[in-house]
Amino acid sequence: MKIAFFDTKPYDIHWFDGICREHGHEVKFFDYKLSEDTAILARGYDAVCIFVNDTANSAVIDILANNGVKLIALRCSGYNNIDFSAAYGKIHVVRVPSYSPSAISEYAAALLLAVNRKIPRAVGRTRNGNFNINGLIGVNLSGRTAGIIGTGKIGRLFAGICRGFNMKVIAYDPYPDVSSGIEYTTLDRLISSSDVISLHCPLTSDTHHIINKQRIQRMKDGVYIINTSRGALIDTTALIDGLKMKKIAGAGLDVYEEEEKYFFEDFSEEVITDDELMLLLSFPNVIVSSHQAFFFFF
Ligand code: NAI
Repeated sequence: MKIAFFDTKPYDIHWFDGICREHGHEVKFFDYKLSEDTAILARGYDAVCIFVNDTANSAVIDILANNGVKLIALRCSGYNNIDFSAAYGKIHVVRVPSYSPSAISEYAAALLLAVNRKIPRAVGRTRNGNFNINGLIGVNLSGRTAGIIGTGKIGRLFAGICRGFNMKVIAYDPYPDVSSGIEYTTLDRLISSSDVISLHCPLTSDTHHIINKQRIQRMKDGVYIINTSRGALIDTTALIDGLKMKKIAGAGLDVYEEEEKYFFEDFSEEVITDDELMLLLSFPNVIVSSHQAFFFFF
């Protein structure tokens, strides 16, 4: 096949180039994200390979299909950036069904530990020769309740990690896995009785802003929120308000609602104009990482 890769970074080329050639595919790597402006670059290719912040809406799908592209291959497991009804009958779509669930669940645990025990702040201090531990106090996870929203491959593994911390685990999933031994509950009860809430569901019209102002108000004081799934599961404005009101003790975010412009790029020499992102980055009890939970090595 002739495959056009969009939104590629050096690590994509490092991994995909050899493998594709080994299997007889002809590949082209574009830096650009797939969009209505760039879709035409795929003319003459059989397939496009895209990532989390590429856009495959109806207009893009039409351009691809009209130019001979038969397959969109997502090199990610989330699929919120695809308009499936527009693709139906025109172009096949495949995704990574299981993106090392352990890599993501371990990363969610790392965010939880780091934000709760204030490890990035501690490291920042000791690097500067400041060994003062004022303000670095955390809480014991043991005995507390982890509320998991979405118990697919990643959520179930995260549940196991939380049990290893001696936490009580409760979960909400409209399609519960009854064989998992997980205690399922309603979303309302999960929201009001969890000390840690971790998001592991896909972004769909049902889950968009599943964490919103009303639900944050009903959370326990001092709740920790962890999001390794998709940014728009959380209403960012409501999250910021919850942090300001000290309702939320901390947040560990590997994804952000408006990440498309910034994540995976170096903006260290520029002024970041997304005020909500800047606020989150300025809070001492928030960790933002740049959608890297998937980035692991076997
Ligand atoms: P999965 O498909 O195995 O599990 C998703 C679970 O969410 C299913 O059990 C499903 O029933 C449940 N769900 C669906 N609608 C729901 C709702 N309204 N409320 C609660 N639960 C609902 O998916 P997997 O592999 O566990 O991945 C979960 C998400 O993690 C992906 O959708 C993706 O967005 C994200 N992800 C993030 C990565 C990163 O690098 N940060 C890498 C890989 C995945």
